[in-house]
Amino acid sequence: MNVVPKPYESELREGRFVFTADTAISSPLPAVVRLLDAFGNGGRPAFERNRIEFSLTQVPYDYVLEVAENKITVVAPREEGLYHGAVTLKQLLSAPSDGEVGIGACVVRDKPRFAYRGMLVDVCRHFFGVDTIKKIIDAISLFKFNYLHLHLSDDQGFRLQTDSLPELYLKGSVRAETCGDGKPHGGYYTKKQVQELVAYARERFVEIVPEIDLPGHTRAIIAAYPELSCTGESTTVGTDFGIHAKMLCAGSEKVYDAVEKLLTEVAEMFPCGYFHLGGDEVPKLVWENCPKCNEKMRKEGLRTFEELQGCFTNRAIAVLKKLGKTPILWNESLYSDMLDSCAAVQYWEAKKKAGDRVKRAVAEEGRRIIVSRCSPYYFDYPCAFWPLKSVYNFEPCTPELGGKDGSCVLGVECPIWTEHVSTEEKLFFRVFPRAAAVAESGWSTPEKDYKDFVRRLDKVLGVLCEAGVNFEPVKKCNPDPISRMFTCAAFGINAAKRANPESARNYASISSRKELSDK
Ligand code: ACM
Ligand code: ZN
Repeated sequence: MNVVPKPYESELREGRFVFTADTAISSPLPAVVRLLDAFGNGGRPAFERNRIEFSLTQVPYDYVLEVAENKITVVAPREEGLYHGAVTLKQLLSAPSDGEVGIGACVVRDKPRFAYRGMLVDVCRHFFGVDTIKKIIDAISLFKFNYLHLHLSDDQGFRLQTDSLPELYLKGSVRAETCGDGKPHGGYYTKKQVQELVAYARERFVEIVPEIDLPGHTRAIIAAYPELSCTGESTTVGTDFGIHAKMLCAGSEKVYDAVEKLLTEVAEMFPCGYFHLGGDEVPKLVWENCPKCNEKMRKEGLRTFEELQGCFTNRAIAVLKKLGKTPILWNESLYSDMLDSCAAVQYWEAKKKAGDRVKRAVAEEGRRIIVSRCSPYYFDYPCAFWPLKSVYNFEPCTPELGGKDGSCVLGVECPIWTEHVSTEEKLFFRVFPRAAAVAESGWSTPEKDYKDFVRRLDKVLGVLCEAGVNFEPVKKCNPDPISRMFTCAAFGINAAKRANPESARNYASISSRKELSDK
């Protein structure tokens, strides 16, 4: 059956349903009719024969699709399931055929492996407007992803209209140039645009998870409000990449007040139950030299700067708890050993670095984990680093997460960071078709058959063309070892050139084990 992600159960039957000018679609969910409109008669009343009928019914699956010679039915207990059934139908219909548009009779009983199937788009390093985000939502929903995580605040730009702290978007959304190109780069989403995106995503059963990355990666925030930094000195929005040391002070109550205002306003804009607080790559250098940060540690009885990060994060989490949101944090937030138990953790670092701590979080705290391992889920790295086959074959429930039955795993998410991705075309090219492999790991049972996956993938990629989304041709997604070596080397050299000159020093201080002095 030519569907990606592979359905839970399917069987072929005798016969074929053929679409005609009379084919009618009836559904309690208008989004379903719109999705399949090209094939039906636009939702006019259904005729007795040759019709597609969607209805809400209790079944122990996400949806059940039945294709017979003169009728297609989709039943599901929730609207989301009806939508997923329509997506499956759309993929079946997009397979190239000679002449008539039809589907072989079959039954599909389908349900997802994981509740969370996400894609992250970094709109800070390069800004992407509403039209591009809508195309991404269209594309990921066609593979049954249900979360779009927008990375909205970073050193190189702040991307939301925030009326309680207006300088954030007025000053923080524009940088003077990018790595010496001399061209200003900027952009942010207005409140109205956010509303439009949230509604657009919800119609496709995708929730938008906002990320305000704290306390590191906040140079754009302190460019807007320098008094929120340790030194109070004025600074600019970052114009190059790598790790920046300038960030929020963890010892100033002014910062906690601003964080509360910001999180409250952003939480109001995004109805999603999850809210991402970042927490990755926090260099400790500036805090180590800040009297206010040191004083805060003495007052709170904190021994290490890692604990200062833990204390900061838990203050931000307390704000989200009041707002009824579940926080998600990058895995570095575990290193303080004091992360609030309500937070889910996004596991991105290598097993060598984070594996032991993540394993403990799962075994001892039952911590919920979203798997986003850099290798092979970071799609800013080209196929030379992570070929399609390696993405497909990666089992998210690695041994430290309890293996294939790991019940702590909430799901999977593939990020596209955009330091080196400045156009929509390149963005889609990096993401697709590898995202389809992540969709399959997030939805389907863990058995793998790469050949079968590629065969099905080839048949369904037409849905992306229809959505105006380009992708890397499948046959180029597993490059040979020599070309991989050259591409990886060129990528590494370019990334090093585009990092700020102090990035290596700042990086080294991320895992500083320095303790508070007795002064
Ligand atoms: C990350 O890649 N710094 C989450
Ligand atoms: Zn400070």
